[in-house]
Amino acid sequence: MGLQAHSSSQDATNDSCDCLLAGPRTSSKRSWPVWMVIVIFLGVVAILAVTIGLLVHFLAVGKMHYYEGVFHISGVTYNDTCDSAASQASTNLSKDIETKMSDAFQNSSIYKEYVDSQVIKTLPETNGTSVQLRLTFKFPPAKNGDMRTEITAILLQVLRDNMASWSAVPASFKLTEISKANSEMLVNNCCGRRLSNSITTGNRIVNGENALAGAWPWQASMQWKGHHSCGASLISSRWLLSAAHCFARKNNMEDWTVNFGTIVNKPYMTRKVQRIILHENYSSPAVHDDIALVQLAEEVSFTKYIRRICLPEAQMKLSDNDSVVVTGWGSLHMFGDFPEILQQALVKIIDNKICNAPHALSGLVTETMLCAGYMSGKADACQNDSGGPLAYPDSRNIWHLVGIVSWGDGCGKKNKPGVYTRVTSYRDWITSKTGL
Ligand code: ARG
Repeated sequence: MGLQAHSSSQDATNDSCDCLLAGPRTSSKRSWPVWMVIVIFLGVVAILAVTIGLLVHFLAVGKMHYYEGVFHISGVTYNDTCDSAASQASTNLSKDIETKMSDAFQNSSIYKEYVDSQVIKTLPETNGTSVQLRLTFKFPPAKNGDMRTEITAILLQVLRDNMASWSAVPASFKLTEISKANSEMLVNNCCGRRLSNSITTGNRIVNGENALAGAWPWQASMQWKGHHSCGASLISSRWLLSAAHCFARKNNMEDWTVNFGTIVNKPYMTRKVQRIILHENYSSPAVHDDIALVQLAEEVSFTKYIRRICLPEAQMKLSDNDSVVVTGWGSLHMFGDFPEILQQALVKIIDNKICNAPHALSGLVTETMLCAGYMSGKADACQNDSGGPLAYPDSRNIWHLVGIVSWGDGCGKKNKPGVYTRVTSYRDWITSKTGL
């Protein structure tokens, strides 16, 4: 606009005869209306803003990128489809791969872009095993090509370095970028994986704390006539594990619904119940064989908020002082209020001998039960936590259902830890009823 005005006044002075007539006429003809000036100005500003925005977007703003990596292991067969507990050998292998990958990325030039890497499956194939990886990075789109090259180079180096110990075949390595939805699906189908892997030891349950959405995706609320009554744990798309005493006097299928999600009365998903199987030997006053299976009328589809927990192998051993987590919407104190948000508490396994001491539970804890909590009191499950999970994370942070909230002497009392049904004792019973 400035340039235009300048050149028109120059035209006017060059032509001396016309200057008086042409001067004002030309300028009134060529000067642009104010609105147009504003529109053009705004247009230019908008184009600049979009250009800068796009540049920043492509060059500076990080976006999540997901990859699937696959490589071959020769000779040795590992079988971990990730839908049930894995053998110790394949857990060890996967753990080792995960540690080496994570170290390699964290010590590389792309450590800032690295988010996560994990082994999803190890599948037997002809003459060995195929290992499936999931990798997550965050970087601006402009870096796409370079990042692929870098990621491939780093992983190839990890494979070469571990050729001997894993029998890995570096030449078989393939990296494919996948969508966020596909990346989530890889994990959703696995048991025992949770969204947030942080559990602080925070000091309701009794002395627990609010759980984040997706933190315990297998936790369900067993609702009797529309009210939370007990907890339960999802162990497949169709089955939950809970406590028999929850159903002993409430055995009409139609009265029960199952809610999923962390807010007990605003369920993320809900299902009707088709069948409830109580343990044949469960007897009401003494809390023996306090275990029940709940079959859903319709299966759930796994999402990041609804997933199953792994069942432990029958031989799995827990040791005194192992850390485990109990979750539920039970009361915050004996005769206390009930929370809206799912509560979590870190508790410790207490050896049956210690738990059965005269000043503690004096012999009431049988071999098919386990104790967890603190001799000092501190944190515990309470009324209406029953049926809910006591979960144990393995070396890879994959969670296993080791206990079912069953009974206690009060809640969080000194020398009275919580008592749980010992799931390993019922592993074969579960298989016999569900095939899982
Ligand atoms: N029987 C209780 C219920 O039905 C669970 C009690 C658990 N108590 C404890 N202190 N851990 O909800």
